[in-house]
Amino acid sequence: MNELVVVLDFGGQYKQLIARTVRGLSVYSEIMPGSTSAEEIRKLAPIGIILTGGPNSVYLSDSPKCDPEIFRLGIPVLGICYGMQLMCHMLGGDVKPCSKSEYGSIRASFNTDSALFKGIREQSQVLMSHTDFVSRLPEGFAVSATTADCPNAACEDPARKLFGVQFHPETEHTEDGRKILKNFLFGVCGARGDYRLDDYIETQVKNIRQKAGDKKVLLALSGGVDSSVCAALLSRAIPGQLTCIFVDHGFMRHNEGDEIEKVFSARDLNFIRVNAQDRFLAKIKGVTDPEQKRKIIGDEFARVFEEEAAKLGDIPFLAQGTIYPDVIESGGKLGATIKSHHNVGGLPENLSFKEVIEPLSGLFKDEVRVLGRKLGLPRSLTERQPFPGPGLAIRVMGEVTKEKLEIVRAADRIMCEEIGKLRRKPQQYFAVYTGARSVGVKGDARTYDSVIALRAVNTSDFMTCSYAALSHKTLSRIASRITSEISSVSRVVYDITSKPPATVEWE
Ligand code: XMP
Repeated sequence: MNELVVVLDFGGQYKQLIARTVRGLSVYSEIMPGSTSAEEIRKLAPIGIILTGGPNSVYLSDSPKCDPEIFRLGIPVLGICYGMQLMCHMLGGDVKPCSKSEYGSIRASFNTDSALFKGIREQSQVLMSHTDFVSRLPEGFAVSATTADCPNAACEDPARKLFGVQFHPETEHTEDGRKILKNFLFGVCGARGDYRLDDYIETQVKNIRQKAGDKKVLLALSGGVDSSVCAALLSRAIPGQLTCIFVDHGFMRHNEGDEIEKVFSARDLNFIRVNAQDRFLAKIKGVTDPEQKRKIIGDEFARVFEEEAAKLGDIPFLAQGTIYPDVIESGGKLGATIKSHHNVGGLPENLSFKEVIEPLSGLFKDEVRVLGRKLGLPRSLTERQPFPGPGLAIRVMGEVTKEKLEIVRAADRIMCEEIGKLRRKPQQYFAVYTGARSVGVKGDARTYDSVIALRAVNTSDFMTCSYAALSHKTLSRIASRITSEISSVSRVVYDITSKPPATVEWE
């Protein structure tokens, strides 16, 4: 059993970042609802508790509170932002609206005698984002950091092992944030740092073997990071018992289907590639509405999968690449439903499996990538950028045809090759077949050909994003390669819209 740090969630946007940062420091962490009782927490025997930020004001009656007994368990507590305000409010301090709210990178001064701030600079930048502040500390507490506008930027009662920071140590905008969290974990909580991903593999291999016995397991392999790593882990645990169905709908990027086949057919599993390109193309012939395309592709995916699964006879277990953020977002329930956003449109609901196996359900995305590499998957799979289930079909505006797919696929390959040369790559980048045609001139002839748009975005969560400021040198190299290597493209444009108001994808 690993030592555990419980992250109690009060609706803060950085809750996953806190848990991930703690794990990155080799201490296992789990996110639990802010309302979890002290009794439940005591049973888990965590070495520390972290209270997240949140959008509410603690002094309002309907704002989320925690069990006050948490502060009496003798387990070290670190309250962050709302978490600090909540702790102070519940222990008898005062929280009030700021006369001047603090947002962004702010200079803070630290008392480096504090166990939390040991070894850090006396002054450094922190990320602040608050409209309330602790105006009076509870009894027993002392201030341990200040900013120009926040007299209690951090506080502590070392005797009770209670600590609070108004700023966000989990973000990289807090210069010494990682050190501060490290001090909390190792200096205050006495962590050993016993969490290693290699142990995760060992534990899961054991669990999978125990659960599956000598029975067969089926997995819908999309080639995405999660399902690929899931397949690699299962083939390590139960070689020969796993069947992966890879439905190639024909909307994959250049070489993608072949690469997935190459990687997985070399592993100790039964790999089935269903080449259903013509079937999918026929289904969306004449369809121009994006949502309609998505739905048809999703339904067809389910049908193909079901047909193939039926040919295999009775397989009692269905494996899914559900990861920890999926579990958090679905309220902590595992296997309750067949992952609805799996690949395209979800798997058929009437599949009758005895049980679902979700061996990645304890991991964050970046941990899944590391695990994949440990399991010997190539970087092209573990570092794969997000790719929508309906694939290139929603990157061809309007009706999809084989010819248009070929054009967008070739343009996308060129873009990926050029961006691949950059040291810092945007999180997602691709080409779009816009459906517009424009006049051009090639040689001595006038042309009237396709317009390709390039899209590249930077984001941390894909809920919002900003367009990537690619250099003109990179953009012009991509444009000149596309127009010279793809004869039917006359013009290339760059999409400089952020999300909102635009979405990442064009359809
Ligand atoms: P949007 O376009 O909504 O995209 O800003 C946000 C992220 O989600 C991906 N995306 C999809 N993924 N099925 C998927 O599996 C879809 O239908 C789909 N549509 C968008 C998109 O690539 C981006 O990463």
